[in-house]
Amino acid sequence: MDGFKKRLNESVQLKLSVTLSVAILVVAMVAAVFSFLSAFDEAHELQDDVLRQVAQLMDQQRLSPRHPATHPPIKEGDDESRVIVQRLGDGNASTAGVDEGGALALPATLADGLQTLDVSGETFRVLIKTTAAGERIAVAQESGFRNEIARDGALRAVTPFLILVPVLLLIVADLVRTMFRPIAALSKEIDQRAEEALHPVEDCHLPIEVRPFAVAINRLLARVAQTMDNQRRFVADAAHELRSPLTALSLQAERLADAEMSGPARERLTVLRQGIERGRNLLDQLLTLARAQAVAEAPTSPVSVQGIYRRVLEDLMPLAESRHIDIGVEGEQDALVWVSELDMIAVVKNLVDNAIRYTPEGGRVDLSVSTQHERAVLRVRDTGPGIPVAERERIFAPFYRALGSAQPGSGLGLSIVRAIANRIGAEIVVGFLDDEKQIGLDVTVVVPMVARGWVSRKSI
Ligand SMILES: Nc1ncnc2c1ncn2[C@@H]1O[C@H](COP(=O)(O)OP(=O)(O)O)[C@@H](O)[C@H]1O
Ligand SMILES: [Mg+2]
Repeated sequence: MDGFKKRLNESVQLKLSVTLSVAILVVAMVAAVFSFLSAFDEAHELQDDVLRQVAQLMDQQRLSPRHPATHPPIKEGDDESRVIVQRLGDGNASTAGVDEGGALALPATLADGLQTLDVSGETFRVLIKTTAAGERIAVAQESGFRNEIARDGALRAVTPFLILVPVLLLIVADLVRTMFRPIAALSKEIDQRAEEALHPVEDCHLPIEVRPFAVAINRLLARVAQTMDNQRRFVADAAHELRSPLTALSLQAERLADAEMSGPARERLTVLRQGIERGRNLLDQLLTLARAQAVAEAPTSPVSVQGIYRRVLEDLMPLAESRHIDIGVEGEQDALVWVSELDMIAVVKNLVDNAIRYTPEGGRVDLSVSTQHERAVLRVRDTGPGIPVAERERIFAPFYRALGSAQPGSGLGLSIVRAIANRIGAEIVVGFLDDEKQIGLDVTVVVPMVARGWVSRKSI
């Protein structure tokens, strides 16, 4: 009960439904009771009128009720529904009740007019009238029957309420739910968004009372997008600025290598040059990530996946050979995708680079492409250790690197792949090459082949 009260206070929808339903029920109940009572009264009035008219008729036609003993009542119809007409004083008051002939035992002292009388346990409505001829007559009808008729009539008057109230409650519940549906749809849309989807929410379908709220959300989204853009720009600028001094350092180290020096000094120089190279790679990856997260220039023409594979393999063949990895493309099938060449190269290069680096020497890396329902399915498979299921989400986080790897790296490769995939609407699925033995990595990237509606943002 407490939980319901809390929800009632918190939910406008529930409050509106409950309040309207209670209001409808109260109004309907009051109206129904009123209708019932007035229809009941009306029926009694009509019945009294019938008694009056019968008495009037008797008087006008100068009819005289005969003694029922000589003329037994006609036994047609319901006995209860009978209107009894008798001379006052007929019937035996001392025996009390309805005598054999059907006359009521009414005291002769009754005053003129309508009255409700108890005659031997049964209640009657009786009209006493003194006719022009001076005769006193009683016109009577059983109250139980009168009440039954009145109740039936009154219930018929209330029936429309009984049918219409549930219909009205259903209409109210549906109306309230429909009114709040756009808000529920809006929150669902915002909930399901990827974190970088900061485009404004559509407010034209919303009721005007809620629109200011959507406008405020849109302003907030715009501010967040601006802040994120600034941050990306800062990272990209910093990486760009750091590149020049690092390139100069690298040149100096190269020159130094030509000079004569002792064995230990050369060893140190080699370590220094490796460090500088790692720094340059890190800066390149940072720049690529910043671009992957921000740029959205619509491609002017589709690119061939096989073409991308060739270019990446040309770049990475020396690395594969140095590690004795058997690398190649399976099948001839090609797919054209509407993605910028730089993006496609970044995705494939990072995946293949990982496959070569994390596969033990002498292993195998296979690339393939197929098409499925207007989507290109790119696969990079290796015979390395694979990635445990528990770790599969974390590997996409920036700077995350699994412990125990001797391979140089920045931890940004898969973040770049994910950022580009999100932007181009691609899906990444990570699995084992061999599910049973749980080894080898099988990465599938499903890229839509049709040109999509591009969201253009300022590029870095
Ligand atoms: N093909 C693969 N086989 C096994 N582990 C992998 C593979 N690809 C990626 N990983 C794991 O995911 C981590 C993140 O990869 P990535 O983002 O490319 O960063 P980096 O390669 O610079 O370490 C890697 O450090 C590695 O532990
Ligand atoms: Mg990598």
